[in-house]
Amino acid sequence: MTRPKNDTFLRALLREPVEYTPVWLMRQAGRYLPEYCETRRRAGNFMNLCKSPSMACEVTLQPLARFELDAAILFSDILTVPDAMGLGLYFAEGEGPKFERPLREEWEIRALAPPDPYDHLRYVMDAVKEIRKALDNSVPLIGFSGSPFTLACYMIEGGASDDFRRVKTMLYDRPDLLHHVLDVTTRSVISYLNAQIESGAQAVMIFDTWGGALSHRAYREFSLAYLQRIVAGLTKEHDGERVPSIVFTKGGGLWLEDIAAIGCDAVGLDWTSSLAESRRRVADRVSLQGNLDPIALFASPEAIAAEARRVVDDFHSAGPGGGHVFNLGHGISQFTPPQNVSALVNAVHEYSRQFHRS
Ligand code: CP3
Repeated sequence: MTRPKNDTFLRALLREPVEYTPVWLMRQAGRYLPEYCETRRRAGNFMNLCKSPSMACEVTLQPLARFELDAAILFSDILTVPDAMGLGLYFAEGEGPKFERPLREEWEIRALAPPDPYDHLRYVMDAVKEIRKALDNSVPLIGFSGSPFTLACYMIEGGASDDFRRVKTMLYDRPDLLHHVLDVTTRSVISYLNAQIESGAQAVMIFDTWGGALSHRAYREFSLAYLQRIVAGLTKEHDGERVPSIVFTKGGGLWLEDIAAIGCDAVGLDWTSSLAESRRRVADRVSLQGNLDPIALFASPEAIAAEARRVVDDFHSAGPGGGHVFNLGHGISQFTPPQNVSALVNAVHEYSRQFHRS
């Protein structure tokens, strides 16, 4: 049994008592940190950084050296899985992620196969092991993957998209083909996340960044059903400890009850949801993670602290009890001044203590 010295994050996910509200930030290792930019420059490009376990470990630890964060998140990307399926991921400067071989023809889709995580994604497993060693049980390590629908968006569009025209056209014209992509991707994600857990990830998060772009009906059929299969297939316990799972559908607040019913331990919320209302709807089933607007981090330290207190108050206004992990409602902006993150983390820790005295 190897619970980290600071296991506040794991306890909050499992709705056990805590002394304060734990906090970590999506994309906490990233371009807003000058030391990240320096390591990335040394790596040459983003993919080299992901594929080098020692540099991935180095950047994972960078935000923890600056801020009192309650969890580390593996430094990698959701698109390493389709890259391992042979689509050829690259990052064009200023254009975001792109695939050399996006899925365009039916035969390409029929040829898709789940990658062996210990072979094609071995560099991720090596990074997980190296990070766990470097963390030395100080805080838990979060593993992650993209949701099948979100991965399918990039695999079919070939990169970022404003309207998801290709993937949605397939959804309406050839649902059987899209279901095939989602099925192969789901099997890939299950074995990938279980390999991360086997290698030392102590919680896992599934990023469904684009599920919120679907219609009410399509969300259930093309995203949630696969999230449910993943959660059911995850290793629930490793090394004598529960391994909690977090599901985050950006824009999914309206569907909260359905997400909370798939068997995950926590649901991530973006800033459009009220934590109090969300808690009244589902807190007997799951913990909640979120949900400060990332752009609030551009305000003054005083305004940031006030906004952080509002988020903490919002959760606790629905009554006593825990089950809240503080986070942003989406990834931190690359233009965020790092010192503003200190103001946020300190405000959450200091202010939340009053709600956790039993
Ligand atoms: O949270 C963390 O610190 C862990 C690392 C992490 C990254 N990407 C590092 C990264 C995680 C969890 C992700 C997830 C991810 N990647 C998502 C889901 C979450 C979300 O933000 O919606 C998505 C959609 C991706 C795909 C992706 N990768 C995008 C859209 C981009 C940004 C492209 C750009 O130029 O703005 C990336 C690149 C990326 N992934 C960066 C980082 C730190 C920046 C790339 C760089 O250093 O040049």
